[in-house]
Amino acid sequence: MSSLAVTNVSVAFGGVHALSDVSLAVDAGQIVGVIGPNGAGKTTLLNVICGVSRPDRGDVTLHGTIITGWKPSRIAGLGLGRTFQTSQLFPGMTVLENLMTGLHLRGHTGLIAAAFRTPSMKREEAEMRERALAALDFVGMRAFAGRSGTALSFGQQRVVEIARTLIGEPKILLLDEPAVGLSVPRVAELDTLLRRIRDERGVTLVMIEHVIRLVMGVSDRVIVMNSGRKIAEGRPDDIRRNPDVIEAYLGRQGDARRPAP
Ligand SMILES: Nc1ncnc2c1ncn2[C@@H]1O[C@H](COP(=O)(O)OP(=O)(O)OP(=O)(O)O)[C@@H](O)[C@H]1O
Ligand SMILES: [Mg+2]
Repeated sequence: MSSLAVTNVSVAFGGVHALSDVSLAVDAGQIVGVIGPNGAGKTTLLNVICGVSRPDRGDVTLHGTIITGWKPSRIAGLGLGRTFQTSQLFPGMTVLENLMTGLHLRGHTGLIAAAFRTPSMKREEAEMRERALAALDFVGMRAFAGRSGTALSFGQQRVVEIARTLIGEPKILLLDEPAVGLSVPRVAELDTLLRRIRDERGVTLVMIEHVIRLVMGVSDRVIVMNSGRKIAEGRPDDIRRNPDVIEAYLGRQGDARRPAP
């Protein structure tokens, strides 16, 4: 049984066919890369999987359960985490507060109830703090816990966002362009971090990425999208040589990301 399956999914926005009859399956423990030109439907695919967009046709199955049409929070409860294409850190909050805010939303105690701070709430808060700090430790960012989140470099913000998803202990993590704007050494660090997330935490990863060096280096399998369709899928070496992929994407793009429209 696949950890995650997308079956014949189509999504249209007005006249735009963002996804047309897309199917894919992801096995536990894999890192799957998703590549394709701007507007290919990659983010829409993640949005459908995590419940942000509802497909017009087709189904999404997570650990054997059909989750099509479920709310994002309910899907997250089944162990699906996700990062976004743009930074989602809250301005005016420290890195630690950013991570703990995510936890409050998931925890038993709501933010308003937490204002009364009964002993059990204080205990819960201390526990959340420990979990947030442990996640920062894991990604090598504990020293930044007290710093303003949005004052960090772009790359550091992406890593903090990954840490924030990890405290939810996802079984599957969807990443939308985690390497965008990173320098070559930072990309190498991200490569290592992604492998550690899989190997040490047993997380299955699905990653949209334009930095081809990273995708080809870290992925077990690569899925190629173009104009809302899946045009190829295979091992990185096979994808590099696939004439359709070279024509649609690799040949004219290489490692460079075209500016967003
Ligand atoms: N909410 C929306 N409303 C209308 N059109 C949308 C919406 N979301 C996506 N689209 C359109 O659907 C198509 C696929 O967009 P999507 O964001 O999935 O592409 P992408 O592969 O992630 O591109 P990029 O590499 O630029 O992030 C595009 O034509 C886009 O303009
Ligand atoms: Mg996108």
